Amino acid sequence: MRLYIDTASEETVREYRSSGVIDGVTTNPSLVASTDVSYRATIERLSEAIDGPVFAQVIADDVEGMVAEGRAYDSWGPDVIVKIPATPAGYEALERLRAEGIEAGITVVFSIAQAVLAAKNDATFVAPYVGRLEDAGEDGIDVVTGMQETFDAYGFETELLAASVRTRAQATKLYRAGVDAVTLPPETLEAQFHHHKTAEGIAGFDDDWGDRSSPVADRSGE
Ligand code: G3P
Repeated sequence: MRLYIDTASEETVREYRSSGVIDGVTTNPSLVASTDVSYRATIERLSEAIDGPVFAQVIADDVEGMVAEGRAYDSWGPDVIVKIPATPAGYEALERLRAEGIEAGITVVFSIAQAVLAAKNDATFVAPYVGRLEDAGEDGIDVVTGMQETFDAYGFETELLAASVRTRAQATKLYRAGVDAVTLPPETLEAQFHHHKTAEGIAGFDDDWGDRSSPVADRSGE
């Protein structure tokens, strides 16, 4: 299972990298636009900050433009994966980039049919938007669970990457469904490190331990 952080902030990636739980970074045009550096510099800096994939989305909406951007992004870091929106032109661009051996997949996905077409084109990943499905009144978890069942049934190697995951409850349901990969915004990832009963339990242990010293005799020389 892979866990990604959904951010364009290099500082945030460096902050969470040391936790050891994140495998890579997903971005989108909105996140990159919120930074004060260029698209290329953002992707290069994120690539330096993490030993894992950095997902960068094409801006063009025509096949040639997407292919040109995809080829360029591929050179911006050792493990850049090109995100292409789920449009007819996007599927054609995907086919072209994958034929060149460039890692690329389909994003802004809302149906099992869109996901199957991406897997048919040997997409590296496909990214359904859980939160936005629920914004539209659909059961986002059910749609993604159905995608995972379909991918497993066909033996597709395309990674199912659940995106637009906004709550700990959504993430938990995705984990239970055995989804290949989940990307989380920093605040949702942060929430997963905490539980009020954990804090309460630790406080109790601290109280009971009192002012006794550490079991490791002398930590002052460390
Ligand atoms: O990166 C794409 C996705 O995670 C967007 O999430 O919350 O803007 O729907 P959201």
